[in-house]
Amino acid sequence: MINKIGIVGGGNIGGVLVAEIAGRRLARNVALVDIKPPDFAKGKCLDIAEGTPTIGRDIACQGSKNFSILKGSDFVINTAGVPRTVRPDGTFPSREELLSTNLKITDAVAAGIKKYCPCAFIISVANPLDAIVYRLFKKLKHPAQKIMGMAGVLDSGRYKYFVAEAAGISVENIEAVVLGGHGDTMVPIRSACRVYGLPVDQFVSKSKLAEIETRTRKAGGEVVSLLGSGSAFVSPAWSALEMVEAIAFDKKKIIPIAAHLNGEYGVKGIFLGVPAVLGKKGVEQIIKIKLTAEEKKALRHSISAVKKTVAEVNKMR
Ligand code: NAI
Ligand code: 2OP
Repeated sequence: MINKIGIVGGGNIGGVLVAEIAGRRLARNVALVDIKPPDFAKGKCLDIAEGTPTIGRDIACQGSKNFSILKGSDFVINTAGVPRTVRPDGTFPSREELLSTNLKITDAVAAGIKKYCPCAFIISVANPLDAIVYRLFKKLKHPAQKIMGMAGVLDSGRYKYFVAEAAGISVENIEAVVLGGHGDTMVPIRSACRVYGLPVDQFVSKSKLAEIETRTRKAGGEVVSLLGSGSAFVSPAWSALEMVEAIAFDKKKIIPIAAHLNGEYGVKGIFLGVPAVLGKKGVEQIIKIKLTAEEKKALRHSISAVKKTVAEVNKMR
């Protein structure tokens, strides 16, 4: 069992995280920081703590406006940020449009982590994903093995779900991965998609797969439009915990994450969605996938989009 998990941002995703950590008996202590008045994080934690006798879980849930609550955390999951939400005219902002607001929040988060739990594993969820995790990395000067972004688990999960639905086969039999940035340029890798180890096009037609891949790239926006306020939050929380569990239990599990790359996939110095082995050291190995010419081209396009956002980040001091 993990000793302590810290969560920054107690909104939709943060709330599910605390409840799931308690429900799964994942940690002895969970600490939640949120600046929202009057004492939002404390209220969220009290609500969950009062339910623990009912579900029979002994876990200390503490919420606060102050980052000192994070002291001693083994993991920090960062969800602090403004989510995509529908505007009155029915449109909604791209993840990149959230950049300037969320960077200011991220700088405050980095200062809090640096002060109270500088050695924790960090899993960042806030958007724009690839840019925020890069900013945290730069501010914290954290070892690259111990800091990563969550997006690939969610995007690949969406791809798997749509394939399972179209094939009429259990989600448990589907293997699929999405690479690249967590934006509309993300790249579902059809050549690596399998149903029970068999090529996916044996189960789903090529034209349906093309539809599925477009839907996967836009899946975050689809949920935003349907909810009318805020963005997906249950599947992102489950996805972040998949990463925590792989590290905490030294699973050596291959999981798509936003990892800091050092030449892999021809990329250096930025975070990009790639499969990685997660174990007790954190990001233990980046896994290379053989791509088709078309997939390589799409990935280069996605890398350019992430580099563009990172360049924006570097301009914003
Ligand atoms: P939310 O708005 O429900 O919660 C965010 C919370 O962060 C709010 O309660 C807010 O008070 C808090 N916050 C703001 N500034 C803070 C600060 N300086 N310190 C501590 N807390 C602070 O949003 P939700 O739905 O939980 O989403 C969180 C983030 O995750 C958003 O940026 C969203 O776009 C992103 N997201 C990322 C996904 C991914 O795949 N990586 C998937 C879904 C959402
Ligand atoms: C999602 O993919 C909006 O990034 C968020 O659901």
